[in-house]
Amino acid sequence: MKLSILLSLFATTSVAHLIKRETSSNIRLMNWNLRYDSQPNDITIDETIGNLSLTVPDDDQVSFYTDYEEAPWSDRRIGVANEVLFNSPDVFTVNEGLHRQVEDLKELLGWPYIGVGRQDGGESGEYEAIYYNPSKLNLVSNDTFWLSDTPFEPSEYPGAGSYRSATVCIFEDSSNGVQFVIINVHLDDKSDDQRKLGAALAKYRAAYEYQDKHVPVFLVGDFNSPTSGDDNGAYEISTGAQDFDNSKLNSTFTEKYNNNLSNFTMDDLMVEAAPKNRMGHHATFTGFKSDTSAFTRIDFQFGGNPHNGDDLLWTVNRYKGGDNWYDNSFYLSDHRPVITDLFIKN
Ligand SMILES: *[C@@H]1O[C@H](CO)[C@@H](O)[C@H](O)[C@H]1NC(C)=O
Ligand SMILES: *[C@@H]1O[C@H](CO)[C@@H](O)[C@H](O)[C@H]1NC(C)=O
Ligand SMILES: *[C@@H]1O[C@H](CO)[C@@H](O)[C@H](O)[C@H]1NC(C)=O
Ligand SMILES: *[C@@H]1O[C@H](CO)[C@@H](O)[C@H](O)[C@H]1NC(C)=O
Ligand SMILES: *[C@@H]1O[C@H](CO)[C@@H](O)[C@H](O)[C@H]1NC(C)=O
Repeated sequence: MKLSILLSLFATTSVAHLIKRETSSNIRLMNWNLRYDSQPNDITIDETIGNLSLTVPDDDQVSFYTDYEEAPWSDRRIGVANEVLFNSPDVFTVNEGLHRQVEDLKELLGWPYIGVGRQDGGESGEYEAIYYNPSKLNLVSNDTFWLSDTPFEPSEYPGAGSYRSATVCIFEDSSNGVQFVIINVHLDDKSDDQRKLGAALAKYRAAYEYQDKHVPVFLVGDFNSPTSGDDNGAYEISTGAQDFDNSKLNSTFTEKYNNNLSNFTMDDLMVEAAPKNRMGHHATFTGFKSDTSAFTRIDFQFGGNPHNGDDLLWTVNRYKGGDNWYDNSFYLSDHRPVITDLFIKN
């Protein structure tokens, strides 16, 4: 009697498992290098808001397109938050956010964030923070690893300019349980070898997450590596155009995230968007300058592609190179945000 109940229970769960409906979601993903708070002050958010002009100027009172100076974070943060809120992403990732900056955005956006300071795994140094809309998404798990030879402790790759870290979040759509993974990195500005190793570590981790969970995996952030030229190794390793010898990766890391998806690539979501669905700016790095000769595209969003015969679990519906500058103010950052609309399924 007991056994038959058990058996029928088992049969019901197995059938339910087999006929599990494929579920899907639409996700808007935004990433932005904020520019660190290079001119820190004690001005509070309320003081900044209280200092905003109450009146709207007439046209002849506006200095259009003239302010190329870097404004302090205390001034930039209101515009940054408005830009994010108006683009209404579901996930918003940042680079270069110091503790004050990520806390300010938590308050201004009204969203939680995940991430730690890269210098000590606490509050020191820049955060590769990941914010998410808590009314749409649940956080399933999260962690940080370092883009170095010792990824499980705050550390610097030999010859790099700084400690470099990656934040990983696994989210689920709270309405239907569809899951996806976001990995947010900021690769080094000085060492091309660090950038290559960093890209290879992130790609290896992405392949593991895909193999382990069979959910879409996205890699975002400032690569400090363009798509062409002689410092494009990180981009090429990500997209599979250049090989990387994974035996150079920390062996504790490759054992923990062991996978056999040797053909896994991270596909550039700007490239994957249909031409008619690409909009906005090309360059993502502008500096605080009007001179376009140094403009580059070094901030990316990539989607994981297993190249093993599986269906892709994501589609890019739209790609936007966002704004960091409007005609009557100052640069919000020396980088522009990247925004995509994604269709994802499990
Ligand atoms: C208020 O605005 C003025 C004029 O732009 C500026 O000089 C001053 O530093 C601002 N004060 C604060 C607290 O932001
Ligand atoms: C996120 O990571 C922190 C630090 O490891 C941990 O305390 C927290 O429980 C994590 N949250 C989830 C949902 O995994
Ligand atoms: C790999 O990284 C771990 C933790 O970060 C470290 O303890 C270990 O020594 C590293 N392994 C090698 C071979 O360097
Ligand atoms: C890769 O690993 C997965 C999970 O361990 C396994 O199911 C699959 O058969 C392996 N594929 C190959 C080609 O080795
Ligand atoms: C990777 O791609 C190559 C070339 O298409 C193919 O020969 C090989 O079997 C693939 N490896 C895996 C693990 O899928």
